[in-house]
Amino acid sequence: MMFLPFLFTLSFLFFSSNALDFCVGDLNAPQGPAGYSCKKTEEVTVNDFIFSGLRAAGNTSNLVKLAVTPASSTQFPGVNGLGISVARIDLDVGGRGLMHTRPDATEVVVVIQGTLCAGFISSTNKVYIKTLEEGDVMAFPQGLMHFVINVGETQALAFSSYSSASPGVYFMDYAWFANDLPTNILHEITFLDPDQIKKLKALLGGTG
Ligand SMILES: *[C@@H]1O[C@H](CO)[C@@H](O)[C@H](O)[C@H]1NC(C)=O
Repeated sequence: MMFLPFLFTLSFLFFSSNALDFCVGDLNAPQGPAGYSCKKTEEVTVNDFIFSGLRAAGNTSNLVKLAVTPASSTQFPGVNGLGISVARIDLDVGGRGLMHTRPDATEVVVVIQGTLCAGFISSTNKVYIKTLEEGDVMAFPQGLMHFVINVGETQALAFSSYSSASPGVYFMDYAWFANDLPTNILHEITFLDPDQIKKLKALLGGTG
């Protein structure tokens, strides 16, 4: 009588011990808030946990002279369900990451090359800003507005890690100026000059 529960425990260990070690994303299945469904364990190989897409610099020929190359669960299914991911960030001289938040992820950025001015704003509107040199790391707490600017004389390279396998991003300027939110409403809710609003809408592809 005493050993039946023991046997049950043993069989549980033998038959289920690694069932939840990981959940490599099945990219053919839909992605929900919890990520992708798991690929069958017998089909998982070491290559699911390797991503080589961060070897090359991203294309910085754009308005902000910055490229973010993500290794999130969509590009790198091995991190699906693990609550972590990484990205490569290339910045030309003068490149900048516009003010944005990541509602579901804390971020740490590691400066590999160049000099970045980086900062975030707390929910009490206090500014935390610093010039980062090669080898410096800065944390951006989850949900807080933050930015980076390449203030050096050379290209800059950084890597960021996020506490989400699929971190979302919400850019202030795009939320305000890259859609059809009417200029008069924006003026009412921000005090910004209508002329300035129209200028930024034109720059970022908004209307209204
Ligand atoms: C980089 O992006 C620009 C603008 O979209 C494009 O014209 C250019 O061909 C791209 N360069 C490379 C190397 O892909």
